[in-house]
Amino acid sequence: MPKLVIIYGSGFGNTGIMAKAIEEGAKSSGVDVIIKPILDAMPEDVIDADAIAIGTPTYKAAAMPGIVNFVKKLPVSSLKGKVGAAFGSYGWSGEGAGIISEMLKSYGMDMVEPNLRIKRTPEGEGVEVCRELGKLLADKIK
Ligand SMILES: Cc1cc2nc3c(=O)[nH]c(=O)nc-3n(C[C@H](O)[C@H](O)[C@H](O)COP(=O)(O)O)c2cc1C
Repeated sequence: MPKLVIIYGSGFGNTGIMAKAIEEGAKSSGVDVIIKPILDAMPEDVIDADAIAIGTPTYKAAAMPGIVNFVKKLPVSSLKGKVGAAFGSYGWSGEGAGIISEMLKSYGMDMVEPNLRIKRTPEGEGVEVCRELGKLLADKIK
């Protein structure tokens, strides 16, 4: 079965809510999903993925340092042409997801755009938009 790997960082849980909603959406469209918080993730986790979604909140106009370091360590040769998405919660400026998206794009990934950013805690429609991204990613790899 096609496989989506979701890796995310989240200081207060908001980007984590997004990640879980993306997982739900993708599973409802019938693909395998591996979801890991950054502390449990290994760069090799992406090797056999068909699509990769990476989540980061914005802190101090940047992506989470742990996520940036992780993306720098990804096995680039296994990423070219794969479907990618960057997402994350933010408070006011929201640079994080865009920074990660540019890094993944530079590896030759086929990024879903625009990046999915939700202000603060995703609720109601915000959660639904995340589910829709999961479905879209699933449809792209089925
Ligand atoms: C110390 C600190 C710095 C922050 N800096 C920014 C920032 O530069 N731009 C922004 O949009 N949000 C900023 N935020 C807001 C967070 O991105 C926001 O609270 C987000 O929902 C956190 O997501 P998380 O729960 O996944 O960690 C900051 C929050 C904190 C606590």
